[in-house]
Amino acid sequence: MCGIVGAIGERNVTGILITGLKRLEYRGYDSAGLAVVAEGLLHRVRRAGKVAGLEMAADEAATQGTLGIAHTRWATHGKPTETNAHPHMSGDDLAVVHNGIIENYQSLREQLIADGYRFTSETDTEVIVHLLHQALAAGRDLLQAVSEVVPKLHGAYALGVVSADEPDRLIAVRSGSPLVVGLGIGENYIASDQLALLPVTTRFIFLQEGDVAEVRRDGVQIIDAKGVAVERKVHEFDGTHEDVEKGEYRHFMLKEIFEQPAALQRTLEGRINGPESLAHLLGERTELLQRVRNVQIIACGTSYHAGMVARYWLEDLAGVSCQVEVASEFRYRQHVVPENTLLVTISQSGETADTLAALRGATSAHYIGRLAVCNVDSSSLVRESEMALLTRAGPEIGVASTKAFTTQLAALLLLVLATARAHGVRDELLADILTDMRQLPSLTEQALRLDGAIHELSKDFVEKHHTLFLGRGTQYPVAMEGALKLKEISYIHAEAYPAGELKHGPLALVDKDMPVVAVAPNDELLEKLKSNLQEVRARGGELYLFADHHAELSDADGFTVLTMPKVPEYLAPIIYTIPLQLLSYHVAVMRGTDVDQPRNLAKSVTVE
Ligand code: AGP
Repeated sequence: MCGIVGAIGERNVTGILITGLKRLEYRGYDSAGLAVVAEGLLHRVRRAGKVAGLEMAADEAATQGTLGIAHTRWATHGKPTETNAHPHMSGDDLAVVHNGIIENYQSLREQLIADGYRFTSETDTEVIVHLLHQALAAGRDLLQAVSEVVPKLHGAYALGVVSADEPDRLIAVRSGSPLVVGLGIGENYIASDQLALLPVTTRFIFLQEGDVAEVRRDGVQIIDAKGVAVERKVHEFDGTHEDVEKGEYRHFMLKEIFEQPAALQRTLEGRINGPESLAHLLGERTELLQRVRNVQIIACGTSYHAGMVARYWLEDLAGVSCQVEVASEFRYRQHVVPENTLLVTISQSGETADTLAALRGATSAHYIGRLAVCNVDSSSLVRESEMALLTRAGPEIGVASTKAFTTQLAALLLLVLATARAHGVRDELLADILTDMRQLPSLTEQALRLDGAIHELSKDFVEKHHTLFLGRGTQYPVAMEGALKLKEISYIHAEAYPAGELKHGPLALVDKDMPVVAVAPNDELLEKLKSNLQEVRARGGELYLFADHHAELSDADGFTVLTMPKVPEYLAPIIYTIPLQLLSYHVAVMRGTDVDQPRNLAKSVTVE
């Protein structure tokens, strides 16, 4: 999704803007631009394509200034061209960058055209800059103009605004899209993600909904949605810079796959010291789990798959009913909410527009609590929920979610165990599962050792156009996650089915050109899965199996088997995800795709 960076200082800020944009590249974008103010003039440079192209153009033009805004655009209204790239200008002096969508832009545009404004782009953003121009022409100063225009804009957005006539301030607005203010020494910044600013500061203010910030070199003033000047807490960034560097790895995705043992260790830290530790999982609020009679899970994409696994666990281990729904569907329909329902949102970023909207719309009195399972402590989702269970995966930069998923699963398993305990499940059973969970980092390491074998296997997939993924029980969502990974980074069409559904339709697709991947841990559904696999084999399908020795499946049966470590039942969804991540990674690399920033996708989907 779009990224914003802005800076005001005594020195040239162009480098800060470009570096910030590069650090936001992971969000996904298709054009980039910047505007800086120097000696009373506004200089703008924009390019379709990558930030590297913008950087070259800015170097060639020797673009310099002590105040500036910059943007990576993920096209929504209008093609990814230079003329649609931000910043957008009105006249020669005023520039705006914008994340999000202005829903009423069409009527505003018509009015502005009638008022004599000429539009040079197809974007919804351009209405904002002309509206500001109109307010300035009517005698307002920049801050007044922004405060006057904001109520006219419907939708979710974040803005950065500069004017060559007011070189001592940068105005920022948060209304539905995230924006942080970074605090430096004699200079200050804005960005849509704190990661963009880590080279220059570790001190941040997270703007809240409706905040307008006036950012100056020597200070920041924030006005809240009611027009009142407010003080917001300053947060110190608590990660390390290395987390957001690729290090020795070719791609962030590969680095993040291999970070999983350490990430899982962090997720479990202090939470698995026997069943008593479950009593504190949600702090003082953990007691509320005793009253929970139903759980509604809401999420998107990979996080939705994590929710689907949790549903199996919750009904099986805690005996609590559970529904899981994608947020974009949930938010637009009426629901019957059973009494004493716990609402659980799952999100890596905590900024996914649909998940946030679903949370905000879940107002029934039958919800007894709203819990965010999230990787980002400072996110909107965490701030707007009464309870949070942090997954502690560390920054995830690759668009394809990897360590975020496995840590979500580990955190959700803890939540299920805490719920089971609150519902009177025997401590002995819970203690056994917690003891098993201690093995998670080492089992993950064992699964990662299959990397070489999976690299070899990947060659069989490179020329294929379609792939089928099969699983049963908790492995069905794992198969869905495997299919999502393959399609999003290798662009090979992939579908997942519960293996028992094969003969109800998809079996018709199976032939030698359709590889079938099955995740087959040695669980109670294994025998049934084996029958499904025979159905594939009998139709000439190429079968690739991830299974342990005890499953007694071998290449001799006409399958290609990759032998997994023996894994306790409840950990299998976490460990069996690893080879599927590696498979999609290697296939994508062999196909030469942009692994960390696949086409058309964004890391954090902050628009509907
Ligand atoms: C998965 O690889 C994708 N990045 C995507 O499906 C993602 O999981 C989805 O957009 C939800 O994001 P969130 O977890 O940040 O809410």
